[in-house]
Amino acid sequence: MSPVPPASARSEPSTAAPRRGRLAVLASGRGSNLATLLAACKDGQLVADVVVVVSDNDDAPALDLARDAGVPAVAVSWAKHRALGGSRDGFDARVADVVARHNPDLVILAGYMRIVGAPMLEAFDDRLLNLHPALPGAFAGTDAIARAHQAFAEGKLQRTGVMVHRVTAVVDGGDPIAIEAVAMVDGESVDALAVRMHEAEHRVIVRAVARALPAAMADCDHRDALEHRSPR
Ligand code: GRF
Repeated sequence: MSPVPPASARSEPSTAAPRRGRLAVLASGRGSNLATLLAACKDGQLVADVVVVVSDNDDAPALDLARDAGVPAVAVSWAKHRALGGSRDGFDARVADVVARHNPDLVILAGYMRIVGAPMLEAFDDRLLNLHPALPGAFAGTDAIARAHQAFAEGKLQRTGVMVHRVTAVVDGGDPIAIEAVAMVDGESVDALAVRMHEAEHRVIVRAVARALPAAMADCDHRDALEHRSPR
């Protein structure tokens, strides 16, 4: 009987711990969804880390949240870019460059108030996810919560919701990854509805990242292997 080869020679499954996912988060405002993602990474709901936070707003509280969590936080100011005569695509190319340096598996637009254009879509393709406080096909664009509240007051709908979807050239129009419907309540103020909507956002964004991350990581590892890049 041939001697059993040493374990190192056998094609034993790797015993190395699977790598953690790498999340880039783009935020323009207070960052409650960023905070939710940071907490989910910390408590193990997501086997991942936020590796960079980028904001188009120098004063975004989300940047302070990132810094407090020890996460690289980068402001690429839209206002300053425009004041210098910069273009939309030029802005997106700058943001894409900052994000790409951190080798993310997913790029999550979590309350990011800019419409991302070709440079971002080309750089990250189906790794781009966007949080939008509306159901697929309803209230694309800004002020979705207030618009749903108004439509309910006019008897035009009975519920709204929150989704995380793939980002495409169609604003808030990509395939949804996770959705949560939110019932409307008679007499509820728009501010009270917004509170319930943000609570739903915090559930949906973790669910969507958990769903999208494994395939995104596999794609990234495959691309890295093809391009002989070291693992992330
Ligand atoms: C979301 O409703 C998003 O659509 C809007 O701001 C909310 C995100 O808030 N732009 P936060 O910055 O994550 O707290």
